[in-house]
Amino acid sequence: MDSILAQSLRLPCGHEVKNRFFKSAMSEVLGTVDHQVSKELVGLYRQWALGGAGVLITGNVMVDRAALGEPRNVVFDERTDASKVAMWASAATANNTDCWVQLNHPGKQSPNAINPDPVAPSAIPLANGLDKFFNQPRELTEQEIKSIIRKFAYAAAFAKDEGFTGVQIHGAHGYLVNQFLSPLHNCREDEWGGSIDNRMRFVKEVYQAIRVEVGPDFPIGIKLNSADFQHGGFTEEESIQVIIALDKLGVDLFEVSGGSYESPAFVLKESTQKREAYFIEFAAKMKQLIDAPIVVTGGFRTAKGMERAISSGEVDMVGIARPLTLQPDLPLRIMKGQKVENLIKPLTTGVSALDKAGMLEITWYEQQMARLAKGKKPVPNMNVYWSLFQTLASNGLQVFQKRRA
Ligand SMILES: Cc1cc2nc3c(=O)[nH]c(=O)nc-3n(C[C@H](O)[C@H](O)[C@H](O)COP(=O)(O)O)c2cc1C
Repeated sequence: MDSILAQSLRLPCGHEVKNRFFKSAMSEVLGTVDHQVSKELVGLYRQWALGGAGVLITGNVMVDRAALGEPRNVVFDERTDASKVAMWASAATANNTDCWVQLNHPGKQSPNAINPDPVAPSAIPLANGLDKFFNQPRELTEQEIKSIIRKFAYAAAFAKDEGFTGVQIHGAHGYLVNQFLSPLHNCREDEWGGSIDNRMRFVKEVYQAIRVEVGPDFPIGIKLNSADFQHGGFTEEESIQVIIALDKLGVDLFEVSGGSYESPAFVLKESTQKREAYFIEFAAKMKQLIDAPIVVTGGFRTAKGMERAISSGEVDMVGIARPLTLQPDLPLRIMKGQKVENLIKPLTTGVSALDKAGMLEITWYEQQMARLAKGKKPVPNMNVYWSLFQTLASNGLQVFQKRRA
């Protein structure tokens, strides 16, 4: 019998995605030094498109050149080379694959090594020792808020024009959209802060501005935190209110995640996956309340687990990130009924300060993506010290700064 994961899914905008595998965003840091699309990115997405997933979400693409999350992020703005973006989109949508661009503005989560003057809803620095790596942000003016909303809309229209089949707003993990939603980070007293209705104004306007540009038939998804896991932060109750409001406006797909740089939860340690279960429970609750489909990302490792999540009706798609860096054709193998092995193992250096920073959980997988991008095979047993050495050799001690959790 065919796997339930091979079934297509119709989105509220009418677009149909070919199956239930959703490759979640992983920042590839494979853009050029001037933030253009590289041939490595084209190569990487060609492999993933041939690997069988229904939807590929790109790593976060920045909407503002002055506000980057990482040095080699791709930016979509007036200076972006459209022909290279078109090549990327063409490779990523081969094999009838959907590829949606994840659009992001980091707000205050923009490291001081690349951005001395970050902006945020309010001038509140990042806590938990992160003030060493991220400067205190400046409060955005109303005019700047409107300009950033226009940048999201511009980037979405550009993605559509060059051949991508959808976009995803990055509303999770402590970046700007999430900062507006959080009462800890948004203490504004104007119409962009205060009540949850005011705090969600930014994300609603970003969505609406994109919708005007791309039209009614183009998929717009959003990645949102089910909660920030911070005392006094964005709560589950508030997240539910935001999802219901965005569902009414016509968002096509909700991806549920959680955490931020201050309180990491989205790259789950393999040994402590309580949060994954939490995201699933949250998604199951949301499914009763909204019309749009839901995808949960984090911790899916076995065909059985993925099939169960869909057949139980808890989620509509399964979000997978790290496993696809080691097995880019994982969806195809599962749909063919082949046995697949869980290759994701806990990564540890034995040095607790390094492990706590979670750096390896990011750089090790970036190195696997870089290999795939060059047409090389992934190395699931890549030595962690070799990986660390490579990272230090190419980035210097700067790597010790917090990147993402
Ligand atoms: C190297 C790396 C980069 C990531 N970059 C992003 C990103 O750009 N945007 C995003 O929403 N999530 C990002 N994530 C989080 C993943 O999308 C995903 O939520 C997380 O890895 C948990 O899923 P998994 O257990 O299947 O890996 C990243 C994760 C990794 C490992």
